[in-house]
Amino acid sequence: MSSLTPATVSKAADGPTSSASLAGRIALVSGAASGIGRAVAAGLVAAGAGVVLGDIDQEGCEKAAAELDTAGLPGRVVPVSLDVTDASAWERFIRTARRHFGYPDLLVNNAGVVGIHGLEGVSDDEWQRVIQVCQRGTWLGLRAAVPCMHLAGGGAIVNVSSVFAHVGSGAAFAYHGAKGAVAAMTRAAAVELAPARIRVNAVSPGMVETPMTSGLPEQFVTDFVAATPMGRKAAPREIAAAVLFLLSEDASFITGTDLLVDGGFAAR
Ligand code: NAI
Repeated sequence: MSSLTPATVSKAADGPTSSASLAGRIALVSGAASGIGRAVAAGLVAAGAGVVLGDIDQEGCEKAAAELDTAGLPGRVVPVSLDVTDASAWERFIRTARRHFGYPDLLVNNAGVVGIHGLEGVSDDEWQRVIQVCQRGTWLGLRAAVPCMHLAGGGAIVNVSSVFAHVGSGAAFAYHGAKGAVAAMTRAAAVELAPARIRVNAVSPGMVETPMTSGLPEQFVTDFVAATPMGRKAAPREIAAAVLFLLSEDASFITGTDLLVDGGFAAR
């Protein structure tokens, strides 16, 4: 375990901070064309950050960036085509961020895909697709962004995991495996990077109203909502709020945690 040295004490200890302000920060968001990623990007821009939006859906990414621009925040969003499973695409993503803004010091590993089959039904293709995007994509994002954070003198990372990293469901076997790995990588990276002033946390959503869940079988969604104590899905902005908190200096002593944002699903 690393000891508490001055290097691990946030600058926030020096005095009051501008709560939740991310002015001057430079953020990378994967899967930013849609759903939670898009809401996170909007929140980051509103908090004053420069944001590079990455998504395999280039058109959707450009549309999201254009909408943020027309919301009166020109020049602070840059859309980039990014396949998170491609290491060279991550390098291009980082280069674009550096060219536009400087060294990125915030990363949200958000891109994900789901497969619904349980242990006995999951195919090799589904396993590969889900593990590649959710697990390997998160690793490649960490590997690409962390050197910039060293050069920036620190940073904050949020990996979007899932309540399925915490509980079984009887379905989505590959997704459970991938998100469990995201949770484990979050803790491992948090311990390794704390001395370098890089905080690493996860957010684990329950059921959220996004294009991902609108593609799920209706009965699966109905049963999930019925098993959620709060009795509804989350809006993407409710997940984004948790991500923004963990990125901000309000969370200056929080690293290695996994914040459930699930309407009480895992508490039952
Ligand atoms: P979404 O489907 O609305 O958005 C996911 C985005 O990721 C899309 O824009 C898609 O084009 C992009 N993407 C997919 N593969 C990619 C790749 N290889 N490279 C780059 N981008 C890629 O989904 P949603 O709901 O916004 O999900 C965001 C994250 O939240 C995912 O990691 C998901 O697993 C997680 N999550 C979602 C929950 C939900 O109920 N919607 C619940 C728990 C976790």
